Amino acid sequence: MPEKKLPVLETKKLGITFGGLKAVQDFNIQIYQGELVGLIGPNGAGKTTVFNLLTGVYVPTEGTVLLNDVPLNGKKTHQFVAAGVARTFQNIRLFKQMTVIENVKTAFTKDIRYNMLDATFRTPKFWKAEKEMTEKAMDLLAICHLEDKADVIAANLPYGQQRKLEIARALATNMKVLLLDEPAAGMNPTETAELRRGHPADRARHVPGDERLRAHPGHRLRPDHRFRPAGGDRQQPQGHRGLFG
Ligand SMILES: Nc1ncnc2c1ncn2[C@@H]1O[C@H](COP(=O)(O)OP(=O)(O)OP(=O)(O)O)[C@@H](O)[C@H]1O
Ligand SMILES: [Mg+2]
Repeated sequence: MPEKKLPVLETKKLGITFGGLKAVQDFNIQIYQGELVGLIGPNGAGKTTVFNLLTGVYVPTEGTVLLNDVPLNGKKTHQFVAAGVARTFQNIRLFKQMTVIENVKTAFTKDIRYNMLDATFRTPKFWKAEKEMTEKAMDLLAICHLEDKADVIAANLPYGQQRKLEIARALATNMKVLLLDEPAAGMNPTETAELRRGHPADRARHVPGDERLRAHPGHRLRPDHRFRPAGGDRQQPQGHRGLFG
């Protein structure tokens, strides 16, 4: 019998309550290898909260997050990253005074193969590892079309390129799942189009069982698609907000 395909990321009845507010309730999703899924909903629907639940920033009050069928309950954010979940933030978080390439290299921390003494005395082991990390970082910058910006201070990049740098840094964690929280927010149409280039998603599907949040590949969003937000009123989704697109 063929082996049943397991989702890379799965949630079961995931939910969180802040005081009396049920921000996310009964959120069920399965994401398979190679899939690209968008999470859409109006302002305050709970998209960022889902991302925070999927990365250990918030501890769910109900339900489970599984990565390759392994529950991540009780794990800290750095353990989510080590397990293979990477993200970007709705409000960009970079080391603004560091260069572009330094920002990417910070994400390799868990892979560093030299110790403090190697770093202090600049041993051959240090230089070899540094060279490898620089090459890997340059590859990731090239994927994000930032290779000619490697030595620029992050704060001096235009907004759209800062967003791309966040993505490069998330990719550097060697993740299994990449979560992008409103990656196109604040970008102009050209930057958004560039971000969408090479977009592999071609399947549209919904997450059953949640009235407010739907998972949906970005470029198949129907403008007439309607959602029920936290308050219960029907609202129009915000264009492509909340999508990886
Ligand atoms: N730490 C918290 N404490 C209390 N309430 C919170 C907390 N985090 C989120 N919320 C509430 O949960 C709800 C969902 O917020 P969330 O930021 O996840 O929405 P969103 O879908 O990402 O919205 P937007 O499109 O504006 O980014 C909101 O009512 C918000 O005020
Ligand atoms: Mg949000």
